[in-house]
Amino acid sequence: MSTTVTQLLPLPAREVPLHGLYLGHDVRRLAAEQGRPFVYANFVASLDGRIAVPGPTGSGQIVPKQIANPRDWRLFQELAAQADVVISSGRYLRDYASGHAQEILRAHDDPQFADLAAWRAERGLPPQPDIAVISASLDFPIPQALLAGGRRVIILTTEQADRQRMRDLAASAGQVIPVGQASVAGDRLVEALAGLGYGAIYSGAGPKVLHLLLAAGVLDRLYLTLASRLLGGDPFSTIVEGPLLTPAADMRLHTACFDSAGLDGLGQLFLSYDSAEQGSSR
Ligand SMILES: NC(=O)c1ccc[n+]([C@@H]2O[C@H](COP(=O)([O-])OP(=O)(O)OC[C@H]3O[C@@H](n4cnc5c(N)ncnc54)[C@H](OP(=O)(O)O)[C@@H]3O)[C@@H](O)[C@H]2O)c1
Repeated sequence: MSTTVTQLLPLPAREVPLHGLYLGHDVRRLAAEQGRPFVYANFVASLDGRIAVPGPTGSGQIVPKQIANPRDWRLFQELAAQADVVISSGRYLRDYASGHAQEILRAHDDPQFADLAAWRAERGLPPQPDIAVISASLDFPIPQALLAGGRRVIILTTEQADRQRMRDLAASAGQVIPVGQASVAGDRLVEALAGLGYGAIYSGAGPKVLHLLLAAGVLDRLYLTLASRLLGGDPFSTIVEGPLLTPAADMRLHTACFDSAGLDGLGQLFLSYDSAEQGSSR
């Protein structure tokens, strides 16, 4: 199996190692340089834009098995390893509690990511990034396993959330912060996380959370893996879901790599885009 990918942008095109590809983006340095949090999100999508399809039981959606693959997962892990805090959703905690979701960063329990555990340790980072859970319903338990090793779970919700549920979760999880009236507002979310001292903020959540980040203009970078497969099918989720973004969220291509060995030789594109709005020149 090839250990490299072909970097297409920036030019000149050249072979570069897969391992370390996104660690080299050093988002922690970018956060420090801009003096405010660096917010980044990641998706793997089919050519027809599907990021989630119904699971085997027909209820709920999962990342399509036809596009999930170990080389993309490696890069997902490299992005998670750099985070101070990972954004997830109420849906993730419901799945976690029912045994249908895994830890986001697997550096501690999967030997193939042991280098990422070392990478965090060398920088004095805790084994796991903290977790920021976005939820309006607050309808989930906090699994004790998530709090292991002193990890903080911060719940970001709305002013309209059930007060008693907020108190209960605060007692069991730590912090519950309203950051929006009827819906979590991206700017208030990032402000709250910045206030807690977080610099590298990684969204591992889905299309509604990406929408709230884009609508508020707080997303710095989008990582997108485009798997060379079309899936069709209905229903499905795509990378962003919600009302028309006005204005549209303009992005500039930052890096592009072709992974010819990915998906058993079918190939996939590893793309990263910077928000044009944030005026980045990285
Ligand atoms: N292919 C990929 O790379 C990829 C990446 C990420 C996710 N996915 C898939 O996409 C699907 C959806 O993922 P997801 O549920 O994590 O993401 P999501 O659709 O972004 O978020 C859903 C949950 O987040 C909360 N939420 C979202 N926007 C909110 C707002 N404005 N205010 C308050 N709460 C809000 C809600 O929680 P409550 O219901 O608790 O209120 C909602 O149920 C899953 O099947 C997942 O596997 C795929």
